[in-house]
Amino acid sequence: MKKLCAVLLALVMVLTLAACGEENGSLQSAGDQSVASSEAEESLPSSDAAAKILVAYFSATNHTKGVAEKLAAGLGADLYEITPTEPYTSEDLDYGNSDSRSSKEMNDPSARPAISGSVKNMEQYDVVFVGYPIWWGEAPRIMSTFIESYDFSGKTLVPFCTSGSSGFGSSDKALRAAASGATWLDGHRFAAGALADDIMEWANGLGIG
Ligand SMILES: Cc1cc2nc3c(=O)[nH]c(=O)nc-3n(C[C@H](O)[C@H](O)[C@H](O)COP(=O)(O)O)c2cc1C
Repeated sequence: MKKLCAVLLALVMVLTLAACGEENGSLQSAGDQSVASSEAEESLPSSDAAAKILVAYFSATNHTKGVAEKLAAGLGADLYEITPTEPYTSEDLDYGNSDSRSSKEMNDPSARPAISGSVKNMEQYDVVFVGYPIWWGEAPRIMSTFIESYDFSGKTLVPFCTSGSSGFGSSDKALRAAASGATWLDGHRFAAGALADDIMEWANGLGIG
């Protein structure tokens, strides 16, 4: 009888230990999983850090803005509007008037209209798209203000523009010269209201991103 009790007791202990082991095993595995997933979350870059492409643009009448927004959406890039400290009025943009603000600025290669705000952590970007409207065949002077405000060395810069009818031409000449140390790609001109598909066909053909 004693022997039978001892055997039954041993059996109960074995079964209890086995049950405990299983429970501990599943807890362990759940614990492992939770550690693994929290480590993965920590190692995932934040959305800011993951954004390596910036689309920066100036737009006085929203044509370039439309292209820039489609480009940034298609690339999953950050978007930055180059905002003049003093906004351009329609009088300022009157290219028929040689005394208008835009005419005076474009007649003065040293003009540097001030920009309100700045790009935070420009150093995080590998590629910066630079968009502007053509003014008298060139990039508006505020684009020179922008390019001269940062160190782009080691980055790839990609200009694009909108215009009434002019081609891209050498509109980026002054900007290219100012972005020393950067790889400056050939630019592209879009019509106002360019389609996202056309914009992305160009962007995807650049071999970046
Ligand atoms: C001051 C000024 C000069 C311009 N010069 C030209 C030009 O030389 N060639 C051209 O095709 N369009 C010219 N345009 C038209 C703009 O390039 C065109 O409307 C552009 O899409 C405007 O872009 P935005 O709305 O982003 O400012 C000029 C516009 C302004 C205001």
